[in-house]
Amino acid sequence: MTEFEALEKRISVRAYEKRPLPPETVAELRETIDACNAAAGLHFQLIDKNADKKPAVKLSPGMFAGEVYTCALLAGPEGELGGEMVGYFSEKLMLKAVSLGLGACWVAGTYDRKSVSPALCDGEKLWGVMPLGYAAEKVPLLQRTIRSRIRAKDRKTEAFVESDYPYTSLPAWIRAGAEAVKAGPSAVNQQPVNIVYKGGLVTARLWKEKKNELMCLDLGIAKYQFQVGAENAGVRGFWNFGEDGEFIAE
Ligand SMILES: Cc1cc2nc3c(=O)[nH]c(=O)nc-3n(C[C@H](O)[C@H](O)[C@H](O)COP(=O)(O)O)c2cc1C
Repeated sequence: MTEFEALEKRISVRAYEKRPLPPETVAELRETIDACNAAAGLHFQLIDKNADKKPAVKLSPGMFAGEVYTCALLAGPEGELGGEMVGYFSEKLMLKAVSLGLGACWVAGTYDRKSVSPALCDGEKLWGVMPLGYAAEKVPLLQRTIRSRIRAKDRKTEAFVESDYPYTSLPAWIRAGAEAVKAGPSAVNQQPVNIVYKGGLVTARLWKEKKNELMCLDLGIAKYQFQVGAENAGVRGFWNFGEDGEFIAE
């Protein structure tokens, strides 16, 4: 499965089978985590309790069903830039998990913090956790309802781009990137990130007046989604971090 196919398939999985992951899958996740940490100075950690089938994290029972024996602790530098980088690389990890046939979810709030013990250096914090397991074939009604209620608040794709030109006349790769941003996860589905295409430059910004910490994560996630969507439409590139950071097409 390509990264773009994983992006199309991804949803926030809130019901998991009580099935351990094979060691080779855990090894691939660990490799991706190591690469993210090395690329950006992050401190993602993989909790692997598959051998003794112990929950890797306690998720809030109202929001989640089943159990996971593997979980990523998404730790990294404090501050806006730290959050953005954690968001960006967490999405890379999320798409890797999907490509390995797993289900995952970004969880910043609805878990028991005391159930995990991240290693943190000075100036770092735990931004959230990502349960990694097999999605239950039959999703309980409660979890299905949660998703459809939350995603019902989706904005139109055109609203994700700010430009001097009409949406329909924008380059296909920018529209593809915007569609990918729309398809991505965001905290309580706020979808607070817009792509800005002005003066030939592509940037991304938080458009909501009232900002909160989680939106830095959303900004990084949206940037990664955009990059994968644009690449699938034929334009490879990379982002500079920070709200005014540009997308540089190669
Ligand atoms: C930074 C971040 C934090 C999130 N925290 C939670 C959470 O604490 N609990 C939860 O159930 N979902 C959480 N989510 C998942 C979102 O609710 C979900 O991505 C959004 O509703 C869109 O649905 P989808 O991912 O299925 O497309 C979080 C997502 C992000 C990006």
